[in-house]
Amino acid sequence: MNLNAAELTDLEHIACTIAVEAGRLVVDERPDGLGVARTKSTDTDIVTVMDQRSEELLRRRLAELRPADGLLGEEGAAHDSRSGITWVVDPIDGTVNYLYQLPTYAVSVAACVGDVSVPGEWHPVAAAVYNPTSTELFHAHAGGGSFLRSHGREQRLSVSTRSDLAQSLVGTGFGYDPQHRRVQARVLAGLLPLVRDIRRAGSAALDLCSVAAGRLDAYYESGLHPWDLAGGQLVVTEAGGVVRGRQGAPPDEDLVVAGPTTLVHDLHGLITR
Ligand code: IPD
Repeated sequence: MNLNAAELTDLEHIACTIAVEAGRLVVDERPDGLGVARTKSTDTDIVTVMDQRSEELLRRRLAELRPADGLLGEEGAAHDSRSGITWVVDPIDGTVNYLYQLPTYAVSVAACVGDVSVPGEWHPVAAAVYNPTSTELFHAHAGGGSFLRSHGREQRLSVSTRSDLAQSLVGTGFGYDPQHRRVQARVLAGLLPLVRDIRRAGSAALDLCSVAAGRLDAYYESGLHPWDLAGGQLVVTEAGGVVRGRQGAPPDEDLVVAGPTTLVHDLHGLITR
């Protein structure tokens, strides 16, 4: 599917607008004593009423603005595309942080082309990731570069220039399944002595944006879903980085490694050996 610069800019503008609207909603209308509305894959994989309300806002706004487009949302919103574009949305990425009132969470909105139900068969073309507590808005469209809008200023983003993994600050995250976590802990134990340090912020979308901004040198995680990945993936690649899966395949639930090319190559080697 070929989209021209004006169409891509329009999609990016919509992503920014609705990500900010949803982000303001989750801050402004957070109820006192917020609890867990339900759990998903395990008892620690939680959903709050504000995840549901944020996704409903995104669904309603996209139905108004882009009625022919498809939708895939973390909390279950889904319909097929008639236009070739599908929006992949995470209404709160970092829900555990949100529950605990830790400020690292975001709304992630990405317009994607391809079949979002098939790993490796889709890619984002316009995206926004909005942290409503810092009011930082990361955004990008394919071929247009990555930007951070903060306090009325736009700053173009570039990934780290570091190439030495031993001097690199590496982000990661953990899934919700205890068995999966045992494997993640073993991989982490092997990596920790070989890098500057490790960060676990609690939002994959913001981790990827941190890579785009050079705040992390690189990032890896296994177990990400398209909604955790889509927005931040484009922000990284438009900032000059790469986002890869296992053995150079497109990133998927099995593995995501992000950063400058050399670091991604070396990090991939260490975590898959
Ligand atoms: C989670 C966060 C976390 C990552 C998990 C994700 P959620 O998303 O992005 O940082 O480590 O793998 O599931 O559940 O808060 O939307």
